[in-house]
Amino acid sequence: MENNKELIQHAAEIVKRGGIVAFPTETVYGLGADAFNPLAVARIFEVKRRPSFDPLIVHVANPADVKKLVKEIPSNAKKLIERFWPGPLTVVLLKEEDIPDIVTAGLPTLAIRMPGHPMALSLIKESNSPIAAPSANLFGYLSPTTAEHVREQLGDQVDLILDGGPCPVGVESTIISFLEERPRLLRPGGVSLEEIESIIGKVEVHAIGEERPHAPGMLPRHYAPRTPIVLDWNDKNLDIYKNKKVGLLAFREPRNNLKFSKVEVLSKKGDIREAAANLFAAIRRLDALDLDLILAEPIPEVGLGRAIMDRLRRASTKGEIN
Ligand code: TXA
Ligand code: MG
Repeated sequence: MENNKELIQHAAEIVKRGGIVAFPTETVYGLGADAFNPLAVARIFEVKRRPSFDPLIVHVANPADVKKLVKEIPSNAKKLIERFWPGPLTVVLLKEEDIPDIVTAGLPTLAIRMPGHPMALSLIKESNSPIAAPSANLFGYLSPTTAEHVREQLGDQVDLILDGGPCPVGVESTIISFLEERPRLLRPGGVSLEEIESIIGKVEVHAIGEERPHAPGMLPRHYAPRTPIVLDWNDKNLDIYKNKKVGLLAFREPRNNLKFSKVEVLSKKGDIREAAANLFAAIRRLDALDLDLILAEPIPEVGLGRAIMDRLRRASTKGEIN
């Protein structure tokens, strides 16, 4: 613990000096910089190869800090903050003028969350500034849920990687915007829609492909591994894949796995939270095997199942094999 403290202080020094640090959150690992240092934030975009139209989430260590960053906090946003922070919920509100444009990609709005991971909270506190951080992966690839995942992709390009073990939630935060009459779900994530609606009532849900994405980073093809992921398949005609090396991403223990080169089970007992926590690491392991394709078993779209299916759809190629 003592070591952790020193390490976090060291990480905070790096952030204060304008460096970039990868750190654990309860959802996925983030790549952080001082939100008020535009040059440091620019380095995040560069290292991630992230397009500059895609804004970042700013992370705070105290709900009271939100007041300084935004114009106002609508009462429904307040209710969610009280109920779910620290935790996997991001709120989008009208920003204060002094937030650098690079953080919000020039938008008049700001996405904010208070993460639940103790290392993330200590890092933000010690840095004395909110931390702007996207997930610590290359743009378009799966988010990292271990320090090792970060090392593999970004290794020597970041100033420090804080290792806090595997992320317990495993999918990114839920994003809700409060810019319209009704709150709107921009990204399903670690807090379920059911939990949110139980506090503030009906939320608008933006379905993929319906219209222009509201969260600029929510492109239809995102979180994509190298190996094609196929969601739309049927176990009665697996023969069509018989000359291919096929991996199965199973929700629970499959009845028979003879036909697959490799099976990854997300949750033996069929627990959706456990499946979310294992999702990205399981896809990465399959992606490392040089398979021709990965068949993914659908997950019930309730609770975190909605976030899991959203990520699988974005990672999938709708059955094209090439
Ligand atoms: O769980 C998480 O949210 C993780 C951890 C590290 O906190 N962060 C994360 O960040 O997933 P990132 O950058 O990978 O995804 C943030 C998403 C992007 O789709 C971005 O377009 C959207 O949030 N976003 C950021 N600011 C926004 C804004 N002002 N309005 C709408 N969407 C916004
Ligand atoms: Mg990301």
